[in-house]
Amino acid sequence: MLNLSFYKGKKVLLTGHTGFKGTWLTKILVQNGAIVLGYSLNPPTEPNLFTLSKVENSIRSVIGDVRDYEHLKKVFDEFQPEIVMHLAAQPLVRDSYREPKYTYETNVLGTVNILECVRQTPSVKSFLNVTTDKVYLNDDIPDHPFREDEALDGYDPYSNSKSCSELVTHSYKKSFFADRDCSISTARAGNVIGGGDFAKDRIIPDCIRSVEAGREIIVRNPLSTRPYQHVLEPLYIYLDICQKQYENKQFEGYYNIGPDDCDCVTTGDLVDLFCKAWGNVRWKNQNDGGPHEAAFLKLDNSKIKKVFGWKPRWHIEKTMEQIVAFTKVYLKNKEMIPEEMEREIKEFFK
Ligand SMILES: NC(=O)c1ccc[n+]([C@@H]2O[C@H](COP(=O)([O-])OP(=O)(O)OC[C@H]3O[C@@H](n4cnc5c(N)ncnc54)[C@H](O)[C@@H]3O)[C@@H](O)[C@H]2O)c1
Repeated sequence: MLNLSFYKGKKVLLTGHTGFKGTWLTKILVQNGAIVLGYSLNPPTEPNLFTLSKVENSIRSVIGDVRDYEHLKKVFDEFQPEIVMHLAAQPLVRDSYREPKYTYETNVLGTVNILECVRQTPSVKSFLNVTTDKVYLNDDIPDHPFREDEALDGYDPYSNSKSCSELVTHSYKKSFFADRDCSISTARAGNVIGGGDFAKDRIIPDCIRSVEAGREIIVRNPLSTRPYQHVLEPLYIYLDICQKQYENKQFEGYYNIGPDDCDCVTTGDLVDLFCKAWGNVRWKNQNDGGPHEAAFLKLDNSKIKKVFGWKPRWHIEKTMEQIVAFTKVYLKNKEMIPEEMEREIKEFFK
């Protein structure tokens, strides 16, 4: 069971704090009394949850590039974090086909830079690298949930750069942290959905842009299966991993985070749920001939359940209700977003 009071007064350095997951995570940390320093580029979209959440006022927010080692090191030296969570990334598959070099530089060299800083900062006792379900060698075998010990070899530059980011972490862990009082883990989460994601080429933001514009939703790959889960699900367990491994090195490891089988749906099913929860909106299948994306992706979540006693909290229907509620608040009065986030966090963590 996660003990959020652990975070009171803890110095947490979070990369990617201006992004979708990073903003939700910052909000939870701040609510629980952590001293947060965020290190990221500017928010990746306009609009964005970081600005809407107003969380910037409660943390030290540093705008910087994870490829800039000198800057990053200076920030570590000054802040002396105890816990480091690495979320900053170029996280989009389609952008990675357009900009493979930038994707590798950010996702692989960025990870090397962070780990190098962690290595040289004795105050750090707990490090988590946030990777993805896409790190595995995926041959599209139907109904094959990946286990943590399977081969890492993502197909496209995004997925592959995250496989590399995993391998870099494994090497640093074995080479430099085996005898140190600093635990190192990675977390491979499935696709997250939730209020406040404005990224391009992601299905829920696509649905919301369509309803805002009053047009039909276009779905590119309705038959692909993804481990969709509410954004607070992986954040809960990131916090749990960082806390438990801070206190006991036995908790460090490489962990899948995904929904149970009953909630693993196709993208078409997901959009059906959105249409039902929203009311009076339709979708159509229109493949735009984009680059290769895996048809089938499922994670075996038994390890994280066994080690942490974790289980997913919200089924997919409940997740969709929350997304619709959040979006209706967003469309009606953007000033209410901080309160809406608090409401959702309270309901999830109760
Ligand atoms: N959203 C998902 O479904 C999902 C699923 C699994 C894993 N992840 C991982 O979670 C993390 C966060 O994803 P997200 O959905 O919040 O993405 P996002 O695009 O909303 O946020 C990305 C963050 O990284 C920062 N960033 C990007 N390039 C940077 C650079 N060169 N230097 C410093 N900061 C940089 C951005 O400023 C932003 O704060 C990523 O590592 C992503 O790979 C996301």
